[in-house]
Amino acid sequence: MPRLSGKTALVTGAARGIGAAIAQAFANEAAQVIVTDIDVERGLATSSAIGARFARLDVSCEADWSEIALQFPTVDIVVNNAGITGFEDVQPAHDPENATLADWRAVHAVNLDGTFLGCRYAIRAMRAKGAGSIINISSRSGLVGIPMAAAYASSKAAIRNHTKSVALYCAGQGLNIRCNSIHPAAIMTPMWEPMLGSGADRKDREAALVKETPMQRFGRPEEVAALAVLLASDEAAYMTGAELNIDGGILAGSAAAPGG
Ligand SMILES: NC(=O)c1ccc[n+]([C@@H]2O[C@H](COP(=O)([O-])OP(=O)(O)OC[C@H]3O[C@@H](n4cnc5c(N)ncnc54)[C@H](O)[C@@H]3O)[C@@H](O)[C@H]2O)c1
Repeated sequence: MPRLSGKTALVTGAARGIGAAIAQAFANEAAQVIVTDIDVERGLATSSAIGARFARLDVSCEADWSEIALQFPTVDIVVNNAGITGFEDVQPAHDPENATLADWRAVHAVNLDGTFLGCRYAIRAMRAKGAGSIINISSRSGLVGIPMAAAYASSKAAIRNHTKSVALYCAGQGLNIRCNSIHPAAIMTPMWEPMLGSGADRKDREAALVKETPMQRFGRPEEVAALAVLLASDEAAYMTGAELNIDGGILAGSAAAPGG
């Protein structure tokens, strides 16, 4: 029995990476999926491969969300997945001493404003049925400080907190609308390309990035998508305001032996 049959799911930033894997996993469980992204060409290709609908949506743009609300006034599942690191095109300083206010705000506009607007849309679009599941993709970076990516870490921490406000608000309103956050660590997606590069040292860089991860590897988008399916499904009916780490064990603590 498919786990999401009869449900409609909207996923942001779903043209590629984790969002595309979630959209595919939802479709596999018989959900009606709406793939959204700012990248229209890739979004159309991904949605047609999945058998989903596509809508252009810049998550940081309030007017775009108004359009989405007109087009899709009711929905059962919303995944606020779209996110940027701030290192997509160039590599500006993102440490607390040297980051510019413009770069700081640009990251928060997509990651945090986008999630706020997505949650607001979701609550309104789920209110008629009085039920639904909102899944916010935060990060391990929302739970620890990341000195060289301070805006990203700050935005992801705020997503974690807003998830809990949304969960409490909905429960307080007597709505069966659940809101939970997922906190992935390094997951191999195109997001890493600017940091990994294509040079001969790519493998070394990859290994260095997971050196501190107890499982010693990157995660896969499908592994995050499996968690999203659980949270979207009625199996998670008693879960709200929760934060789920998926990180190869890195947040579990130090693997160092005593005295090591
Ligand atoms: N990959 C990781 O290691 C990792 C770890 C922790 C958290 N995350 C989070 O998971 C989410 C997905 O990451 P990913 O690795 O798949 O990234 P990705 O860069 O591969 O894909 C992101 C998608 O979001 C879209 N996008 C960017 N800005 C947008 C906007 N303003 N409106 C709508 N869509 C927009 C892009 O076009 C792209 O299709 C992000 O929120 C990211 O912060 C990723």
